[in-house]
Amino acid sequence: MTRVRVTVPATSANLGPGFDSLGLALALRNEVVLSEHDAISVTIEGEGAGRLDTTERNVVVKGARAVFELAGRPFRGIKASLLNRIPPSRGLGSSAAAWLGGIVGANALLGNPLDRDGLLNEAARLEGHPDNVAAALLGGLTVSCWADGKVVAVSLPVPADLRWVVLIPEVEGATSEARAVLPDAVPRADAVFNVGRVSLLLAALAVGRADLLAHAMEDRLHQPYRRRLFPWMDAVTAAARSAGALGCALSGAGPSLLAAVTGEGDRVAAAMEAAASRAGIRGVARALDVDTRGTAWEAAPQEGP
Ligand code: HSE
Repeated sequence: MTRVRVTVPATSANLGPGFDSLGLALALRNEVVLSEHDAISVTIEGEGAGRLDTTERNVVVKGARAVFELAGRPFRGIKASLLNRIPPSRGLGSSAAAWLGGIVGANALLGNPLDRDGLLNEAARLEGHPDNVAAALLGGLTVSCWADGKVVAVSLPVPADLRWVVLIPEVEGATSEARAVLPDAVPRADAVFNVGRVSLLLAALAVGRADLLAHAMEDRLHQPYRRRLFPWMDAVTAAARSAGALGCALSGAGPSLLAAVTGEGDRVAAAMEAAASRAGIRGVARALDVDTRGTAWEAAPQEGP
């Protein structure tokens, strides 16, 4: 194959208590068309156009290069055309999508030297944590963790009647900053609190007890420390809950918030936007379905002359 089109979904990590372990794929996709080339050529349309790096430091390019190196194949360059729908630096998995676009695309161009575990491990190694990449690759709700130096990941079904409202602030957030505010150790009571919440969340989703999500999406491992970066988080969460959201949590490392709803989610979206606006934060909320497909690729037609 000489030209490949890869699509990768947005993801929301943690879902509250499942820090660095849970991820949810959402129906909002970035597209990447890749072909081998004798230089680096990156074009970007949509989110991040004009701002994201278009040199060899572009994350899609770095992901592609990593696969060539893993496969022991010379990397001369790559042509990458990106159509981004996932807003960058908002806690919606844009970097996981970029890594996977490059990794999965290069793997297809090279005749698939890496199997699915190989793709997942390389993406998690490059991203630094497995939660977003596992959900983006496999789709659905994923549980992932490191075990003996490798990622173990399972994708679970999610009740189809749930939708997920994401409030996407205009302001960007840096994952590195949102991780730097976290302590190295937490009180045992907080660890126990989160073990209970993650267990309850998976159990509630498995048996269709959406009424338990308010408690099941609570967290004490990262959100309390990140509150100072996102002081409006509690007000927007409260507004979402008052408007009927079943549960609400920071999306990944923020600044987006994720609310679980039944029905269309319009009321919850409007309430979240209004609460953010009252706190001086402009943002757009949209309701998304779960993506169950994960990363997909296909041969792309050759470019015209
Ligand atoms: N689990 C990670 C975090 C997600 O919360 O820092 C970052 O995208």
